[in-house]
Amino acid sequence: MSKDFMTPANIVDVAKARYSAKSYDPLRRISDEDMAKLEELLRLSPSSVNLQPWYFIIAQTPEGKARVAKSTDEAFPFNSAKVTDASHVIVFASLIDTDDAHLNRLLDKEAVDGRFDANPEEFRADMDRGRRMFIDLHKTQINDQRAWMDKQTYLNMGQFMLGAAALGIDTTPMEGVDTDVLDQEFGLREKGYSALAVVSLGYHAESDFNANLPKSRLNAEDIIEII
Ligand SMILES: Cc1cc2nc3c(=O)[nH]c(=O)nc-3n(C[C@H](O)[C@H](O)[C@H](O)COP(=O)(O)O)c2cc1C
Repeated sequence: MSKDFMTPANIVDVAKARYSAKSYDPLRRISDEDMAKLEELLRLSPSSVNLQPWYFIIAQTPEGKARVAKSTDEAFPFNSAKVTDASHVIVFASLIDTDDAHLNRLLDKEAVDGRFDANPEEFRADMDRGRRMFIDLHKTQINDQRAWMDKQTYLNMGQFMLGAAALGIDTTPMEGVDTDVLDQEFGLREKGYSALAVVSLGYHAESDFNANLPKSRLNAEDIIEII
């Protein structure tokens, strides 16, 4: 991959600097310019067969964040302030099932984006066939279509958090949210999606106990085998 425009910023330094913020400075707001970049990161994440099985609700107002906090207030109150004090909060939702409408939407977009230009009919048919083959594998043989799509959305979350850190923005991934409450609050199931997790983003408070704690990870030799 030759990307001359990439800065030589050390990606390992970014990964080391990134951490899960435990409290946010409620007065600091992410700029519209940075939010536009973060929205692009959500859109650009890779997924198996380019399925893009995700949907995002971005809460940027106190009212919007209060709606997201309904998912933490009862079951996970330790996460509530991370939602209400953050600059923005994103609900990551994942597709519940695949249907022709979603698959055709992908193909139409791939056509518009020029993926099939060299041979529009054949390339479109090939892409559709390949995609349906993988979907069928997960739907009828492995029987894990939903979990498979959830994994794609989690990949997106990982890329998103590293990208946010590269922009100097703190995040907190949260599974400590009641996803049924989020589904209901945002009518996600009616849209064909279900909430998976929430990511808060903004700038940590000075009092954040986690900001200066050392990162702890297993050693490379415990988890990486080089052959
Ligand atoms: C999928 C996922 C769910 C998490 N859920 C929560 C959560 O509900 N509340 C919280 O404070 N931290 C949550 N965390 C943060 C983890 O505890 C944290 O990522 C881990 O301890 C590693 O620390 P670091 O992120 O600071 O490097 C979650 C992390 C992930 C990846």
